Amino acid sequence: MAYRMPTSTLLLQVFVLVFAARCAYSWRREEFRNCNQTPFCKRARGLKPEETSYEASEVVLVDGHLQGKLFPLSIQEGDPSSPLSMHVFFYSDHIIRLKINELNDPSDGTKRKRFEVPYVIEDSLDEKRLWIQKLVEENGASVVTLASNLKVFLQHKPFQIRIQDGEKCLLSFNSNGLFNFEQLREKKEGDEWEESFRTHTDSRPYGPQSISFDVTFHGAEHVYGIPEHATNLALRPTRGPEITSEPYRLFNLDVFEYIEDSPFGLYGSIPFMLSHSAVRSTGFFWLNSAEMLIDILAPGWEGDDSNKKQELNESDHIDTQWISESGIIDVFFFVGPRPKDLLRQYTTVTGLPVMPQLFATAYHQSRWNYKDEADVYNVDDGFDDNDIPYDVLWLDIEHTDGKRYFTFDHSLFPNPKEMQEKLASKGRHMVTIVDPHIKRDDGFFLHKEATSKGYYVKDIHGRDFDGWCWPGSSSYLDMLNPEIRKWWAEKFSYTNYAGSTPSLYIWNDMNEPSVFNGPEATMPRDCVHHGGIEHRDVHNAYGYYFHMATADGLLQRSGGKDRPFVLSRAFFAGTQKVGAVWTGDNTAEWDHLQVSVPMVLSLGITGLSFIGADVGGFFGNPDPELLTRWYQLAAYYPFFRAHAHLDTKRREPWLFGEPYTSYIRDAIRERYALLPYFYTLFREASMTGVPIMRPLWMEFPDEEMTYTLDRECMVGSSLLVNGVYTQGAHTESVYLPGGLWYELKTGKMFSGGDYFKIPVAMDTIPVFQRGGTIIPRRERPRRSSTQMVNDPYTLLIAVNGTHEAEGELYMDDGNTFDFAEGAFIHRKFIFSQGCLTSVAINSQKSRKKFISSSMIERIVILGLELPITTHATVEPHNRRVELEVGPSLLRSGMQSNAYIIRKPNVLVSEDWLIRVL
Ligand code: GLC
Repeated sequence: MAYRMPTSTLLLQVFVLVFAARCAYSWRREEFRNCNQTPFCKRARGLKPEETSYEASEVVLVDGHLQGKLFPLSIQEGDPSSPLSMHVFFYSDHIIRLKINELNDPSDGTKRKRFEVPYVIEDSLDEKRLWIQKLVEENGASVVTLASNLKVFLQHKPFQIRIQDGEKCLLSFNSNGLFNFEQLREKKEGDEWEESFRTHTDSRPYGPQSISFDVTFHGAEHVYGIPEHATNLALRPTRGPEITSEPYRLFNLDVFEYIEDSPFGLYGSIPFMLSHSAVRSTGFFWLNSAEMLIDILAPGWEGDDSNKKQELNESDHIDTQWISESGIIDVFFFVGPRPKDLLRQYTTVTGLPVMPQLFATAYHQSRWNYKDEADVYNVDDGFDDNDIPYDVLWLDIEHTDGKRYFTFDHSLFPNPKEMQEKLASKGRHMVTIVDPHIKRDDGFFLHKEATSKGYYVKDIHGRDFDGWCWPGSSSYLDMLNPEIRKWWAEKFSYTNYAGSTPSLYIWNDMNEPSVFNGPEATMPRDCVHHGGIEHRDVHNAYGYYFHMATADGLLQRSGGKDRPFVLSRAFFAGTQKVGAVWTGDNTAEWDHLQVSVPMVLSLGITGLSFIGADVGGFFGNPDPELLTRWYQLAAYYPFFRAHAHLDTKRREPWLFGEPYTSYIRDAIRERYALLPYFYTLFREASMTGVPIMRPLWMEFPDEEMTYTLDRECMVGSSLLVNGVYTQGAHTESVYLPGGLWYELKTGKMFSGGDYFKIPVAMDTIPVFQRGGTIIPRRERPRRSSTQMVNDPYTLLIAVNGTHEAEGELYMDDGNTFDFAEGAFIHRKFIFSQGCLTSVAINSQKSRKKFISSSMIERIVILGLELPITTHATVEPHNRRVELEVGPSLLRSGMQSNAYIIRKPNVLVSEDWLIRVL
């Protein structure tokens, strides 16, 4: 007889199970500070408008910029009342920079300098400075005219900055009077500066030094950006009538099992916000690497002054409050007018995304951990046996000798060079992990050297800071110091990194930095860096400097020849100049799949275009359906890597059997077919800052329906992708903006401007090519991207309503910097009046050349209704080639008819013309 459990025990067990299931992937909120537990945040949020007003005086033009002083109008108790220094600089493209700092008396070197973040602003920015010649005084304001209508008003009392286009205000600083600047001061008796959170005490030797102010985006309907948060793309109000949310927090943290909807800070920070409406897009960037909190204020928030807004003659506006623990005010205003202009303006200041190697844009296979060489070979063979391409195999921390980076565990990986070379013979690469915590082991060469040279960050007592991370007791290199970064870079030479070969690249993780036993699992804020800088000042940029030094190392090891590839978890403004980033430790849940879209988009619109999320989810075990859906979406992430936690079940693409292996193979192969398109988009990003994966409103800025979409995105300007985010879905509701669209799976044409219910089966997700575009593809399945370099192309033409289309193709050698000297092919394809022409985009004489023998082997035209002949003519030489009507032969297996030109066999590098009508 079966034993029957008493009901109460059963209930208890059910409860325990349900609770355990919830907790299995639940974020421990109490481990992280909220605003109320952060005194400077609480102080700033409690400020009443105008309470801390300043007056600008002595405003003059000096060396082409504005200079003045800010005097507090009311003196707060205990605050030093010295004036602040203020500078306003102007640059081409209407970029405006405001700097406010304490007045440091040069004769008195004793005063501590506040931290200014180095290595972010481009050196070339200075060359773009405008030398303003004329300053006009108008109604109590100093006014600079930048263009006929564009004026900057510096109002004196109270101090305020307004940027106006004619009568219309675009952006304003301190129009709500929330500007506050806590100046450094002597500690007096009775001053209690220490602060505690949980078991940690921050000694705060320099006392309160926070800064806060308000910025208004006038005429804006939505604001976006300020990653990294797992939340919607269009940022939600955090304060206002009946809204009490945490502010968006920018503080680089290793958040264990983050949840999919929260304004709490994650691994990286980019303090750049964009606003958008059909009328205008504007942007605001604060260069400050201390903890930052940003409130989006809903209409009617406690300081909202609707009369003032009426005076400004505007209906929509978004007020925001920006709060930082320390540093200075060094802020930039960007006036658009369109979203892509903001990317140009922002990357003019912080730098353009680096052009990656071709292999890095293909598919990466990772897990924590591929155990040993046999495991590596098995996985490598598994891809070949299943006809699935991949380019990079990753080794996580277990490959090292006891978490000593730059070493291999020789019992598991006895022949690391041979292993890399074997993979390289198939055109594949490997990546090893190198984290910033160094094992405190006297026998470890790196620790010995770093200790003897004094290269570690110091604790408050001046000792090498000792924290707990993967290796146990660890110290952290002071990456703020250029000398240490140089030393670190040298560690990547082939001789210093024993077992490394030219096909080995690097992964930087835990660089927030993660300190398991530190406050909020990071480094104490009172730790000390080079030059006496406190960690609190530099925290958000630490990971960026580490990433930068590693990438420099890879550059140097090849004598400056090869483009580095380094993936980083932590990031800051400027990271786009260094390398790729991923969204950290997500979870194998449908909501995490969905939030990966706004997360990747937010990073893209703040300049970081080389970004992806762990395919399959890091924690937990995806079922085959979720894994398949993840691959189908991730094939369109700019960075495409599968990765999984040590405790998860193995999930290489073939392990779930059919039909899933085929679905996943198709998804990965689709990425490979699109590599020419992706590489062309990487080129675009590296020249303009415009991201690869972009929100629809970046392409369709006038379409209000696109402003809040979180489930779909554009890849370049030609593809619209909508993932499938629910289990067992049979349809997806997809918004298609105005114009013609062609579903890639069926070739079916849609006339956009509405939502469409798209049937979905398990084999693909909804992907549409925009009418009026041409996409270059490579359809031959290969083992890796490097084996595709001589392959022919297919051009997929999707015509618009006037039977026209355009597209581009960029190619270079895929790994060196020769492209900078002109060694590339960049073509424009134009289809118009039944003729397809190929012209060079950059035909200037160049020092170096890139030569390709690749042909166009097929041209597929969608949407042509006109009667056409049975052949096409190719010029030069007036050659006749076959023209068919039939289902296309693309991998996606389109069902609708298309016009197909087979074997036009024209060289991709040459000018030609093909006439089909
Ligand atoms: C961190 C990383 C993860 C990695 C693990 C072990 O959690 O985010 O990707 O696998 O550390 O190195």
